[in-house]
Amino acid sequence: MQNSKPFDLPLYLQQCQEKVDSRLEHWLNQQASVSHQLAEAMRYATFNGGKRVRPILVFAAAEALGADPDQAVDAACALEMVHAYSLVHDDLPAMDDDDLRRGKPTCHIAFDEATAILAGDSLQCLAFEVLAESDLPAMTGAIKLSMIRTLAKASGTLGMAGGQALDLAAEGKQLTLEELETMHRHKTGCLIRASVAMGGAIGQGSPAQLQALDLYADAIGLAFQVQDDILDIISDTETLGKQQGADIAMDKATYPNILGLDEALKLAQELNSKAQHALTPFDDTALPLRALANYIVSRSH
Ligand code: IPE
Ligand code: IPE
Ligand code: MG
Ligand code: MG
Ligand code: MG
Repeated sequence: MQNSKPFDLPLYLQQCQEKVDSRLEHWLNQQASVSHQLAEAMRYATFNGGKRVRPILVFAAAEALGADPDQAVDAACALEMVHAYSLVHDDLPAMDDDDLRRGKPTCHIAFDEATAILAGDSLQCLAFEVLAESDLPAMTGAIKLSMIRTLAKASGTLGMAGGQALDLAAEGKQLTLEELETMHRHKTGCLIRASVAMGGAIGQGSPAQLQALDLYADAIGLAFQVQDDILDIISDTETLGKQQGADIAMDKATYPNILGLDEALKLAQELNSKAQHALTPFDDTALPLRALANYIVSRSH
């Protein structure tokens, strides 16, 4: 899909990454912990080279509605903390049993299993603390409460954690396409939808605008996991920063596994088109969102 004017996505990604990273530093540095090791594990899980896609979506959704993205930085931090926690737990021996994440040993390898579990728990708690404590002017009491609700629902049994349970139960089984879609929409799509919704809350969009953003987020949320499944096959361990072929080794239910690689690639493109179409009501303020959808289905890691 062509943009109406050139948009410098690498520059935009870098600026957003810097913005969220410096605020994450702020929150994690002031986080007192009775355990030095636990605090170190939280930092390790947060500052180890993540792409920051969810924070960037928070900023881009706020911008699509004409809001100042700086006002969205605490929402962006909260999303990244929940995401980082979800990866630490996802890599545990009881789940995907992975040794490599973002090109480095996974948290439970660098520390130990108990510390990794606690680092995940603590990052999850800190995410909600950040939303409650934020002193940004746009974070009014009502917006904080609605964000806490949105993030809690997207993370829990009706969201990411529920999806992870479906993923684990599906190992070694042949899911129907419908079951696979449900699993992906929950384990990955829900946090991506929450990212766009929380950016939309900062932008105080109209119900119609928020609905259009949610349609966009629904499509890219699924596309994100479809591309993740594809990369497990077509990429390599060094580029991915995680073990290539890990899904096949664990007999995971994935899109390429059920549809074949070509159909999975086609589906990712269709979902991108759907996302682009959902942005029709917006003008150039949605260029970052458009470019991010293109990026999600073309990224190499
Ligand atoms: C990986 O997410 C896990 C999925 C939900 C597919 P990312 O690809 O966003 O991981 P990082 O944060 O950039 O490492
Ligand atoms: C992870 O999905 C989704 C999460 C909620 C963490 P994957 O298990 O496919 O993510 P990777 O491939 O390990 O990053
Ligand atoms: Mg997993
Ligand atoms: Mg995994
Ligand atoms: Mg994966």
